[in-house]
Amino acid sequence: MSRLKSVGLQDKALQDCTFENDKGFNPEMDRARAYVERWEEMLESNTGLLLWGDVGTGKTFFAGCIANALIERGVPVLMTNFARILNTLTDLRSEERNRFIDEMNEYPLLILDDLGIERNSEFALEQVFNVVDSRYRSGQPLIVTTNLTLSELKNPADLAHARIYDRVLERCVPLKINNRNIRKDNAKVQMERARALFAAKA
Ligand SMILES: Nc1ncnc2c1ncn2[C@@H]1O[C@H](COP(=O)(O)OP(=O)(O)O)[C@@H](O)[C@H]1O
Ligand SMILES: [Mg+2]
Repeated sequence: MSRLKSVGLQDKALQDCTFENDKGFNPEMDRARAYVERWEEMLESNTGLLLWGDVGTGKTFFAGCIANALIERGVPVLMTNFARILNTLTDLRSEERNRFIDEMNEYPLLILDDLGIERNSEFALEQVFNVVDSRYRSGQPLIVTTNLTLSELKNPADLAHARIYDRVLERCVPLKINNRNIRKDNAKVQMERARALFAAKA
């Protein structure tokens, strides 16, 4: 289990994204629980999720909760993000890239954080397409998070974006995470604490 966690959750901070740590900010969290409860069905029907909404609203936390809960049930989950994937692919020789992408499909659930950073680089667009298309063809579920709006995903600027987003939209049920900005709230609390601390010392 701890091996599944350390390999599958590529960012250490994700280990804290658990239902136990849910502070109830996000009214959509019951959908995350439902996804875990009905995992066998999701797998069978190749149903993924598309978590979209503004920054700081809890998309990564939501997806991380699913990852942790399924890993605790012994399901291998890989959660990573597009920035990391692009960095890795940039460093790999082209013949090694396919193997790296294939390895991601050894996981019955793949979670890719932050779709949309590929924006206008041709290399990035091609690699993101390869990752998404390869997952699509593997017939296994994919969960994606993005700061793009559903309307941006449905009305892509060009064919290069369309062929990525069309595949995501075909397999991933869109779910709007429409919270207040929790990150900003947290930062504000911290700033107030720091202010109080320094005020006391002054
Ligand atoms: N339901 C929740 N319970 C407790 N903390 C949360 C919850 N949702 C988000 N957070 C915290 O709020 C901050 C922003 O959430 P994050 O998931 O990173 O947002 P996003 O991925 O949408 O930008 C993070 O510090 C995260 O841990
Ligand atoms: Mg995020």
